Amino acid sequence: MLYALQTIPGLGQLAWREVETSISGDSERPGPRLLGLKAVPGRDDIVLIDHKGGPRPLLKLRTSEDVFAIAARGFKIAYDDRGLRQIHAAVRGSEMVQDALNAWRKATNSHKQNGTFRVIARTVGTHRFMRRDVGRAVADAVRDGWPGRWLPVEDDSDIEIWATLVESELICAVRLSDASMRQREKIKHLPASLRPALAAAMVQLTYPSAGDVFLDPMAGAGTLLLERAAAGPFAEIHGGDINGEALSAMQTNLRGARGEISLSRWDARKLPLDDGEVDKVAVNLPFGKQIADESLIPGLYREVLAEIARVMRPGGRLVVLAGKTGVLESARYGAARVLRPLDRHRVIVLGQAATIHEYVRESGPVRRYAAPQPARPQDDDDDDFPA
Ligand SMILES: C[S@@+](CC[C@H](N)C(=O)[O-])C[C@H]1O[C@@H](n2cnc3c(N)ncnc32)[C@H](O)[C@@H]1O
Repeated sequence: MLYALQTIPGLGQLAWREVETSISGDSERPGPRLLGLKAVPGRDDIVLIDHKGGPRPLLKLRTSEDVFAIAARGFKIAYDDRGLRQIHAAVRGSEMVQDALNAWRKATNSHKQNGTFRVIARTVGTHRFMRRDVGRAVADAVRDGWPGRWLPVEDDSDIEIWATLVESELICAVRLSDASMRQREKIKHLPASLRPALAAAMVQLTYPSAGDVFLDPMAGAGTLLLERAAAGPFAEIHGGDINGEALSAMQTNLRGARGEISLSRWDARKLPLDDGEVDKVAVNLPFGKQIADESLIPGLYREVLAEIARVMRPGGRLVVLAGKTGVLESARYGAARVLRPLDRHRVIVLGQAATIHEYVRESGPVRRYAAPQPARPQDDDDDDFPA
């Protein structure tokens, strides 16, 4: 059975990594297999997998925002009007439709054999036809050829069928997830809050383990803390923010989480934590329009990184999301060189490019860094510091 996982642009590989580590095979059934990664630029990454089991474990994944059962695929679709006829034929005659509808019934506990549907069409490439023509070709094929009686409607359909044409390849899939997979248990959202799937990917990069003392020093509404709490056992979670409104949102959002969780109003430049007390840190530093005076960012980054390095034990892992790699690396180089850079992952956050940076804390002392006042603005050259 073929499935598609949809996630934030740039997270496709990390979404697959979560599948590999969380869903295993056994002697009777092999584990999931990666078939490919597709990008709808600026919108989504799509991970195509072959998974012999039902959809339930896929719906529990945290780095994906939606799960689909693939109902039809088309290859070598022409860029001119012949393409629309090829799409119609591929969707109408596909042998995968019955399995996809069964997966939908399982995922939604439905017994419906007939009902309503709507098509969400997306195209990437210079086709001579429009996106809505693709939608119409798919809708005609579903109505004419799928088992049961399915009627197209504009809204509130029983089934959503997503038709994605990436250049000459068509993926037509039935949506198995609903909005709750994307939004999850978070109740309060602040303007700078992370999407949960991105927070989950960052937490995954800390390699969660049961003994973790985990910290988010600039936690906002607490999305990273929530994801860490959901990622498995931990020893302690510490989160805080300088802003009172953020602290109250964080407290509300973490009300249901169990374990040793302490939330505080603090300044991340002077954390009330001992040297080497923390194993894992994930943080989404303020960037872009999130901070009133951008010229303060370089100084803030230096002070916060030095403080993070101070409270981390050697060997601990840090994962940072930041907008400007040059500014972040300059701050690390100036104030916290014991944080050794590892991999980077480019993502799109609220339409803006950003990068997830992984670091490991090497041994050596770190002193608190006091930024000179006022800090000078830095340029935003992405690659002016060595990794
Ligand atoms: C990008 S937001 C974090 C969003 C958070 N990851 C979420 O999903 O809600 C950055 C946060 O840093 C906080 N902040 C800024 N300066 C701070 C400081 N010196 N100490 C602690 N928090 C600070 C802001 O109040 C803001 O909530």
